[in-house]
Amino acid sequence: MTQSLSITVETTSQKKAKPPQDQLGFGIHFTDHMFMMDYSVEQEWHNARIIPYQPLVLDPAAKVFHYGQTIFEGLKAYKSADGSIRLFRPQDNFARMNRSNDRMSVPELDIDKAVEALERLIEVDADWIPTEPGTSLYIRPYVIATQATLGVAPSENYHFIIIMSPVGAYYPEGMNPVKIYVESQFVRAMVGGVGEAKTAGNYAAALKSQQIAKEQGYTQVLWLDGAEHKYIEEVGSMNVFFKIGGKVVTPVLNGSILAGITRSSVIQLLTHWGITVEERRLSIDEIYEAAEQGLLEEAFGTGTAAVISPIGEVNWGGQKLVIGEGRTGELTNKLYDTLTGIQYGTIEDPFGWTREVGAGKAESVR
Ligand code: COI
Repeated sequence: MTQSLSITVETTSQKKAKPPQDQLGFGIHFTDHMFMMDYSVEQEWHNARIIPYQPLVLDPAAKVFHYGQTIFEGLKAYKSADGSIRLFRPQDNFARMNRSNDRMSVPELDIDKAVEALERLIEVDADWIPTEPGTSLYIRPYVIATQATLGVAPSENYHFIIIMSPVGAYYPEGMNPVKIYVESQFVRAMVGGVGEAKTAGNYAAALKSQQIAKEQGYTQVLWLDGAEHKYIEEVGSMNVFFKIGGKVVTPVLNGSILAGITRSSVIQLLTHWGITVEERRLSIDEIYEAAEQGLLEEAFGTGTAAVISPIGEVNWGGQKLVIGEGRTGELTNKLYDTLTGIQYGTIEDPFGWTREVGAGKAESVR
């Protein structure tokens, strides 16, 4: 076991009022505290601290503002009826963060220590975890490059920060099917680029298309591959799955798609249920052809924020395609119920995905 992290804790004397649980929205309210740790070439990661939630003071020349050297993650904590708190696959999030860090020349984090820091922060702000169905505590770890010089080079200084937000559904539709606009002009990422890294630029590059989609009444954008504008990639905030003729198909991870943790959980669940899952190139034509042949049964997206989101309609170049009569499919519902059941601890977790906060403590103080 790695040596435990030394974290100083400064609690606030001015706790904020908590928002009503039926009006949380997504990423609007933040808890009373945050975690922060600094990096310098000489000291590496140091000065781990939990402090009252507060604005950051950064030099205007900090590299993050100019060259976008930054990585983020997203995961959730869930409170069960018995008061126990669970995280879902937190090590996988920090392992992915390290892969993104590597791509963006950011120093790697110790995964166990990052999880430990997160657990301490959750314990300090445990009363912020909402308990109403469909709510959870969304956790946003991120790294920013803080060196105040304008040369284009990896920063020598960073902050690693964790903030937390009590949330409801990501999409205003809740569990109702979302409508997706297929982008055929702009691209999100190219193989060899940074598409599989969870870095800010991927999201900034998507905003224009998202605006266009919104103007036409669509919630999100479905991206096609950068080279041919033909193969389905992902929806920025979620990976996508299509049920075609009894099998489930999802785009293969090709380097320009985010390796979603919910995506991988869904593949494992489906396989466990004996349903064939194909991870492969999937063209947008194939979806329309499958629909024409009556084989397109369901479509859904997966993500930490989005959970399992049914897709009721796609629009590709003006051709509207309603999927499953615009209603949530049976398999989509079963996946949502099973995954959230495991996350909230109401059903058994045969995969060992959940981690109870504080459960490892007795072991680590020995
Ligand atoms: C998540 O699901 O955690 C994400 O990072 C998607 C997001 C950009 C809200």
